[in-house]
Amino acid sequence: MKVLVTGGAGYIGSITAKALEEAGHTPVILDSLLSGPRAFVRNRIFYAGDIADRALVRRVVHDHPDIEATIHMAARIVVPESAQLPYEYYRDNVAKSLELFDELVALDRPRVLFSSSASLYAVKDDFEVTEDDPLAPSSPYARTKHMMEQVLQDMAVATDLRAVILRYFNPIGSDPDLESGIYAREPSHVLGQLVMAARGLKDSFTVTGVDHPTRDGTGIRDYIHVWDLARAHVRAVERFDDVLAACDAPSVVINVGTGAGITVRELVASFEQVFGRSVPVTEAPPRLGDAVGAFANVDRSARLLGWHTELSLADAIASALAWGEKREEVLGYE
Ligand SMILES: NC(=O)c1ccc[n+]([C@@H]2O[C@H](COP(=O)([O-])OP(=O)(O)OC[C@H]3O[C@@H](n4cnc5c(N)ncnc54)[C@H](O)[C@@H]3O)[C@@H](O)[C@H]2O)c1
Repeated sequence: MKVLVTGGAGYIGSITAKALEEAGHTPVILDSLLSGPRAFVRNRIFYAGDIADRALVRRVVHDHPDIEATIHMAARIVVPESAQLPYEYYRDNVAKSLELFDELVALDRPRVLFSSSASLYAVKDDFEVTEDDPLAPSSPYARTKHMMEQVLQDMAVATDLRAVILRYFNPIGSDPDLESGIYAREPSHVLGQLVMAARGLKDSFTVTGVDHPTRDGTGIRDYIHVWDLARAHVRAVERFDDVLAACDAPSVVINVGTGAGITVRELVASFEQVFGRSVPVTEAPPRLGDAVGAFANVDRSARLLGWHTELSLADAIASALAWGEKREEVLGYE
C-alpha cells in the first residue's frame, strides 16, 4: 500500500515511514522542512513543499495514483511558542490542514489519519482518560488540534472524507536503528532534559511542579515508545475501513498510549536505573501552563486496532540515550 505521510521528515513521521516500510508499504513524504531535517527523509519518495499547496498535492497524487491513505502529521508543535505565535499556529495547523483535506477529497483520496494529542483532555481525578472524557485544550497548539478534530468530524459527515483521529500520549525514544529521533537543539520535554543532564550538557534536571495531586506530587504522563506509536499507525492504515465499519461512523477518535501513568519522579528513577548512575535533580514550581497530566485508557485501541504497546519504559529510555550518543553523526550538531 502507498501512504502519503505529511510531516514525514519530522520525529514521529520519519519513524512511522520506517514502520510502514517494515510492514511492506511505501511511504510518500510531503514535508516543507519547516522544522524536520532533510537527513530524516533518507532515500524515501519525497516532495519538499507545503501541505496547502494544492497544485503540489495534485502532482503527488498524479505521480502516485495508488496512494490509499494519508497520515497527516505536518504541524507546528511547540506549545509555549504557540502562545507567542498564535497566527502562525492557526494558519499552519488549521487553515493549511483545511486546504489539504479539501484537496484530498477532490482527488478522491478520502482516508485521513490525523495526529491529535492527549493535551486536549481536561484533568481527571484518577488521571485515566477515555476518548469520551471532557476536553479542555489549554494552549493555542492544543486548540488547533481540537479544531482539526472537529473539522474532520464535520467533513466526514458531509463529504466522502473518512477520518481516524489518533490522540497520541507522550512519545519518547528513537528509531530502532537510530536513524532518527528527537532533533531539537535543546529538547524541552522531560526525557530530552534528562538525557542532557545525564550527558553533562546541563548542570541538573529540574522537576517542575512537586505539589500536584498525584501520588508523589509530580506530573503524570503516559510515555509511549515512538516505535510502538509508529506501529499503531501501520495498524490503523491497514485496518482503516474495518475500524470505521466497526464503529458504524465516518470518523473515530482513538487514544494511543500504554495505559500506564508514570510520574516525573518515577521516570527519573527508571532513567537512573537504565543509565546506571544518578542524575543531579533540582525542584522548581510548575512552568506556566504545565498540566498535571493524564494517561490513556487503551480499551478502544485494543478493540479497534488489535494493537497494544510491546516496548517498555526502560526500552524507550535506552533508545533515547543511544540516540543522544548518535545524533550528532546524523544531524551535525550535538
Ligand atoms: N511529539 C509529540 O510529543 C506529539 C504529541 C502529540 C501529537 N503530536 C503530533 O504529531 C505530529 C508529528 O509531531 P512530531 O513530534 O514528529 O513533530 P515534528 O515537528 O518533528 O514534525 C512535523 C513536521 O511537519 C513539517 N511541517 C510543518 N508544517 C508544514 C507544512 N505546512 N507543510 C509541510 N510540512 C510541514 C515539519 O517540517 C516537520 O518535519 C504533529 O502533528 C504533532 O502535533 C506530537
